[in-house]
Amino acid sequence: MIPTDDLPPATGGYGQAPLDAVIAFAPGRVNLIGDHTDYTGGLALPMAIDLGTEVVFHPDASSPIIELSSSVEQESARITLDVSANPWDLGMILPEWGRHVGAVASVVRPRYGGKGTVSTTLPVGAGLSSSASLEIALALALGYEGDPESLALACQLCEEAACGVRTGILDQLAITMAQQGTALLLDCSTRSVTPVPIPPDAEVVVAHCGVQRSIATSAYAERRAECEAAERRIGPLRTARPWEVDRIDDPVLRRRARHVVSENARVRHFVAALGMNDLRTAGQLMDASHASLAMDYEVSIPELDELTVRLRSIAGVYGARLTGAGFGGCVVALAERDAVRLPLRGIEAWRVSPAAAAHRTR
Ligand code: GLA
Repeated sequence: MIPTDDLPPATGGYGQAPLDAVIAFAPGRVNLIGDHTDYTGGLALPMAIDLGTEVVFHPDASSPIIELSSSVEQESARITLDVSANPWDLGMILPEWGRHVGAVASVVRPRYGGKGTVSTTLPVGAGLSSSASLEIALALALGYEGDPESLALACQLCEEAACGVRTGILDQLAITMAQQGTALLLDCSTRSVTPVPIPPDAEVVVAHCGVQRSIATSAYAERRAECEAAERRIGPLRTARPWEVDRIDDPVLRRRARHVVSENARVRHFVAALGMNDLRTAGQLMDASHASLAMDYEVSIPELDELTVRLRSIAGVYGARLTGAGFGGCVVALAERDAVRLPLRGIEAWRVSPAAAAHRTR
């Protein structure tokens, strides 16, 4: 069951008049550095981006069904208001994207059914948090009233229930706590968030390697289990020292732990480099992060590696790395303003700027 005891009760409060249409928007996010660190309470530096998901919902007091169509899905999702919160039951819902709707409805427990539309400018399964963005926009459209941190926690539970994989809190915090114009330093052990401005001379470019991935079918859960096994040997990776990592006898677990411990250090150095407008060092740290994700953590694929090489070869690009879970999806590059001319031949790419947090627009 999704544990909902700690969550604030859904009020069904849809703004001024309960039956007015509600519109909610949630951005996606790109992680500049700090991947596969969140589920061991580590550090990450994401920013919300100006691509995202909009949900328009028309509550209907006489309907016990939530019916949503989507700009990127063929079939509509139809969910009853008394949808079970049990992940097993949610796993039976078809079409598959309806599982996210069911999970959110089972947490928010809206008073009314109704009809609505979901439209997204995010590529799906590309490491830009399309599913967290959907769940958060949907929770707001269905009347969720808690603060941004509890919204993030609620939607982390939804993600787990809908996909059957325990993910970290990176995506949800990045989307609910974002601040326009800055990236966010997340400390995933305390869930504290510190704004980190992007220097005005820099820009962030995201490019899709063309391979879609799904958390559920990737080795994500295996990596998490490997980190847990490493922690049973040397204690929390969040505070582990490199020489403690060297003591791990199992070579695979040693490499996984080395990625996490070195990535946490890279996040700190990256934030310091941005603060000094030292974009060259920041870019080198991104390149080192990609190497660590590829070699020690083994979550890259040749298409991602090739795309980082291609982006780094453009004059004015400081560094490039895979972003998010890996196994496919997107690469993020830090570049001099206007250095990367879009469109890139044969590649879907976006210039992104730090966007505001998820919100209701009506
Ligand atoms: C996915 C998960 C996050 C995080 C990243 C990797 O996006 O949802 O919790 O673990 O992968 O950093």
